[in-house]
Amino acid sequence: MTDSPGDRRMRLGPYVLGELLARGATAAVFGAQRSGPAGFVMEVAVKTLHGDALRSIAHVRDLVLEARAAANVVHPGIAQVHALVDEGDRPLLVMERVRGWTLRAVRATAALTGQPVAPEVAVALIRAAARAAHAIHDGGVVHRDLSPDNLLVSRDGHVKVIDFGAAAWELTERVRARPPPALDATYAAPEVSLGLRVDPLLSDNYISPATTVTSPHPARTS
Ligand SMILES: Nc1ncnc2c1ncn2[C@@H]1O[C@H](COP(=O)(O)OP(=O)(O)OP(=O)(O)O)[C@@H](O)[C@H]1O
Ligand SMILES: [Mg+2]
Repeated sequence: MTDSPGDRRMRLGPYVLGELLARGATAAVFGAQRSGPAGFVMEVAVKTLHGDALRSIAHVRDLVLEARAAANVVHPGIAQVHALVDEGDRPLLVMERVRGWTLRAVRATAALTGQPVAPEVAVALIRAAARAAHAIHDGGVVHRDLSPDNLLVSRDGHVKVIDFGAAAWELTERVRARPPPALDATYAAPEVSLGLRVDPLLSDNYISPATTVTSPHPARTS
């Protein structure tokens, strides 16, 4: 890890971290640039661990599993994973940078302005999210955490699924049947919250992408 004098951005190997996009309890997501020979520059997003999580075998393993799950799926409706690398003893999940908004932000803006998402726009978003979910299932993966924070809408109107941190995959071996570490319980199917076996057709459609787009779902109080 090096920071050049006068440049407060963090450089990790070929990656220069920029804007902090989100910071959770264990992971942070940055906008970043990957540089290469002859002036090559590529915009990416980088998810990495911070604090004690960097030294936690369990958290590093979770990030590795997240990268491996996402790498099973190649589809325009998911933010593509480019690489999982170790730079300066720090695992970096490098992926396509989506410039846009979370569905939560889209909904919040609609609520603030009193202008609901137009039905035809909502239908288009729902269709795109459902197609992406289908591609995820075709890749042998169940996302398990399709929520308004994990569905992005790009500036040019494309839906992109992110955050495979709760994904179950290699289902025949029931890998990761335990409840996911971080999960938006408002939207998760009961079998996901309980850590039971998941079903691609049911578990990612329990609270369907439709609900995440069109109506705020009141948080459960129990
Ligand atoms: N590829 C991306 N492009 C742009 N923004 C992203 C990208 N990936 C994540 N983000 C932003 O960062 C936020 C957090 O990312 P993500 O959902 O992967 O992490 P998390 O929910 O904190 O982690 P986890 O639930 O796995 O512990 C997203 O809601 C989104 O705003
Ligand atoms: Mg998330």
